[in-house]
Order: sequence, then structure tokens, then C-alpha cells
Amino acid sequence: MALRLATRKFGSKLLPIRTSFLHSHATSFGFKEVREAEKSQMVSNVFSSVASNYDLMNDLMSGGLHRLWKDRLVSKLNPFPGMKHLDVAGGTGDVVFKILETINNIKRRAMQDVSEDDFLEEGRIYVCDINTNMLNVGKKRALERGLGEDKSLVWVEGDAEALSFDNNTMDGYTIAFGIRNVTHIEKVLAEAYRVLKRGGRFLCLELSHVEIPVFKELYNYYSFQVIPAIGELVAGDRGSYQYLVESIRRFPPQEKFASMIVEAGFQKVEYENLVGGVVSIHSGLKI
Ligand SMILES: C[S@@+](CC[C@H](N)C(=O)[O-])C[C@H]1O[C@@H](n2cnc3c(N)ncnc32)[C@H](O)[C@@H]1O
Repeated sequence: MALRLATRKFGSKLLPIRTSFLHSHATSFGFKEVREAEKSQMVSNVFSSVASNYDLMNDLMSGGLHRLWKDRLVSKLNPFPGMKHLDVAGGTGDVVFKILETINNIKRRAMQDVSEDDFLEEGRIYVCDINTNMLNVGKKRALERGLGEDKSLVWVEGDAEALSFDNNTMDGYTIAFGIRNVTHIEKVLAEAYRVLKRGGRFLCLELSHVEIPVFKELYNYYSFQVIPAIGELVAGDRGSYQYLVESIRRFPPQEKFASMIVEAGFQKVEYENLVGGVVSIHSGLKI
């Protein structure tokens, strides 16, 4: 990218400034500055590259903890039969599988007292992701689990910043480990608000910021030294995992992100830190 140089006065000297980055056409890709138009392709390349090893790497990097974090997310959602739910950046399906399993368990328990016909309203769980490779891994996993064969699970290729769903149609919206990869967080939040019904719940699980001394240093060491090394060893791809770690540090801190959710129109916005802020779950209601 060509840099246009302008100058600003500093004491008696004229110093160059990078005007191309002042016009908001630049954004971060990990610690690199890239053009907004390039970012989504670069993110797409990362997830195409990691798709086949994604689930194994998640277990290795988090020591299996990501499963508990996703359980917590789904328990906060409180899924119910008949609900229309959208999981954005749903990737290989972990979150929707947990939602569907919860709904199926509720149905099974309830069937002891009522018949299938009593669940008049047909539920739908949608997974939306921008990356075909991630979705394909997810579809294969769904088949292996016997989930969604009744059309309750719908896979949609799409961009979180411009969803193809109608206004006021969803009871719930989740996004897990996805929002830090997008180019415009505000657009994603605005879209979440648009598609939710009044009373609908927004929930976001994301790797966040640790501020506890000592733990922060240990976490930094683990993130920058260990994770890229695991990526290289297991997936033969150090670069993608270096990006994943850098993108966490670029993501707004918990309070700032909460204020962005408020600005999007949500109410009762709150967040919960897990493992000292390694991960946080933000939530808001469209009232
Ligand atoms: C770290 S994975 C998370 C997958 C899944 N939610 C999970 O928790 O296991 C991030 C996902 O975000 C998707 N993604 C990135 N940018 C996106 C966008 N603009 N719109 C929709 N999905 C996006 C990627 O393709 C990838 O599948």
C-alpha cells in the first residue's frame, strides 16, 4: 500500500504523518495496519487455513476450557423449544449444537406430559458464517451427531456486518469468538439489534483482557510464545495463530465493548469475566 505523507509542525521541525490511516480506510489485522477492503479476505484466509484443525486446536489452546465457556454462554441464553435463534460467526457449530441439545432435552422431558403437537411453533436455529470451509466442517459434524436432520438447523453463508435476515425475527443472537475478527464492530452490533425481536437477547463470548498482575504476564507469555508454537507444531501454521493472538489484544476492553453495545441500542447491558478476563460474556436486551 502506498503511503501518502503529509506533515505536521512539532517545535521547529516538520514531521511526516501517515494520512492514509487518518481517513478510516485502515484497520487492524492483528498488529498490522491493513486497508479495510483487504481485512475480510485476510480473515477469510486465516479461517480457511485453520478450518480442518480448528476444533482440535481449540481444545489444545484452551485445555478444553472453551467447552465450558460455551456451556456458560448457552445457559445464559436459556434456549426454549420453538425459539428462532441466530448464531453468527458460528464456524464449526459448537454453540448451535449445545443450543439444539438443550432444546431437545427440554422437549424430551416435556414429552412425558404432552405430545409433539403441543410444540406448535416450529423452532429454527440458524448458523451464519462468512467462511465456507468452516461451515462445511460444521455441517459434517452435525450429520455425525444426528442434529438438525429435521430442518431445525439452517446453515447460511453470510457476513455479520450485513445479515440476510429480516428485521425483528430472532429471539436470540449469539456470537462466540467471532466479533474480534470483523472489520466494523459497530455494524455487527447494529445488525444484531436489527434482526432481534423486542425482548430478544444478544450474547457475545469473546477472548478479552486480563488485568490481574502476574496472571497478565503469564497469560501474555502463553499467548505470544506458546499458542503460535502449538499452531506451527499441530497445524503447520504459525501465522494464523499469531494473528488470532494479536487480534485478541486489539479487541476493545470489556467496559469499552459494553459501551458499544449500549450505543447500538441494547439495554440491561452487562458482562461476566471468566478466568480473570481471559474470556468475557457480554449481554444485552432489545426492549
Ligand atoms: C474463532 S472462529 C469461531 C467459531 C465458533 N463460533 C466457535 O466458537 O467455535 C471465528 C469465526 O468467525 C467467522 N467470521 C469472521 N469474520 C466474519 C464475518 N464478517 N461474518 C461472519 N463470520 C465471520 C470465521 O469464518 C470463523 O468461522
